[in-house]
Amino acid sequence: KSSTDQLIIDAGQKQFGATTCKSCGMIYSADSLEDDFQHTQFHQRFLDSIKFVGWKKERVVAEFWDGKIILVLPDDPKYAVKKAEEVRQLADNELGFQQVSLSCPSKTKTYLFVNNKRMIVGCLVAEHIKQAFRVLENSGSTNNVTKHDFMEHHRAWCCSTQAEKAICGVSRIWVFSLMRRQKIGTRLVDVVRNTFMYGSLLTKEEIAFSDPTPDGKLFATKYCET
Ligand code: ACO
Ligand code: ZN
Repeated sequence: KSSTDQLIIDAGQKQFGATTCKSCGMIYSADSLEDDFQHTQFHQRFLDSIKFVGWKKERVVAEFWDGKIILVLPDDPKYAVKKAEEVRQLADNELGFQQVSLSCPSKTKTYLFVNNKRMIVGCLVAEHIKQAFRVLENSGSTNNVTKHDFMEHHRAWCCSTQAEKAICGVSRIWVFSLMRRQKIGTRLVDVVRNTFMYGSLLTKEEIAFSDPTPDGKLFATKYCET
């Protein structure tokens, strides 16, 4: 092998040196100074976004040994609304939503799970809805699907065409990647059912998850059957 060949091979390998940061989720190449810099900046911004300094007025709707859930409403003080927005954007970023506006910002309720280290490690955005379409389990045959259909299927789950009554739509649910599988998502939905409509507990059927991701679908399926 000549030395130029070797150079080309090395350059190619660098492309594969991509790492995913376990906390902020950014994919970057640790070998590249430029990438490294970009990641450090993004990482810091991420940590700033989930940092919770404590507010003069907090609407605490649940308390646990490892944290609490705070509800933020659209008419709350600006600092609270701004924080809720900031965390929602982090979640949107991870969910691959790009600047998706809320269907009715004046009616959305944002639930934030704050842990004992003063970090917002969970976020749930709930909206009033009137109807929902049930996601169908294994709908359609998988024999004749094209690769494109298959890829689409990961996101676009087939839904029933028959509308069912629902009251609360979970438009987004997100838990900090390092804190998953600790029932934070479950506790967020439980609290929504308890507090979304004053004075009544919503059934699991009255809650609908909109456009779930694969994670979201696994979670929602598990939540609804238990
Ligand atoms: N794979 C398999 N089962 C899962 C998964 C998963 N990734 N996540 C949750 N479950 C099931 C499990 O049965 C789990 O119980 P177990 O841990 O005892 O087995 C049960 O759901 C409850 O899980 P929680 O611990 O309460 O859920 P968590 O706090 O981890 O939050 C969430 C789940 C919100 C989906 C989280 O994984 C996440 O933020 N993912 C990235 C963002 C995302 O995809 N959000 C959903 C978008 S859909 C929407 O917003 C409507
Ligand atoms: Zn990072």
